[in-house]
Amino acid sequence: MKTFTLGNSDQQVLELIPDKRIKLVSVGSNQVCVSRIGKKFYAFQKLCPHRMASLNEGFVTNFEEVVCPLHQYRFDLNTGEVRAGSCESLLVYKAELTSSGLLIQLPQ
Ligand code: FES
Repeated sequence: MKTFTLGNSDQQVLELIPDKRIKLVSVGSNQVCVSRIGKKFYAFQKLCPHRMASLNEGFVTNFEEVVCPLHQYRFDLNTGEVRAGSCESLLVYKAELTSSGLLIQLPQ
């Protein structure tokens, strides 16, 4: 695992990523989607595992799911499990808000 830090402070990260919006961010050589509900953050792969739609154009529900914009499949933001639809699980990454920014752990 490799840990990347987004932003310089918790406040900056909260401003950068509005509640329940999905932002595409570059971490190292990867692009990942980042979202949050309140102060709980989620990071996940950019492309939907079904037909590769860009999940940053989807939306996040109050049930900790991301909904794909193309066929509306739903994925659990904590586990990546498919909650509606039939395809592989979404890759999700650990994301933790700290006083020095958002820590995102990606596989090497
Ligand atoms: S491309 Fe995402 S549900 Fe089909």
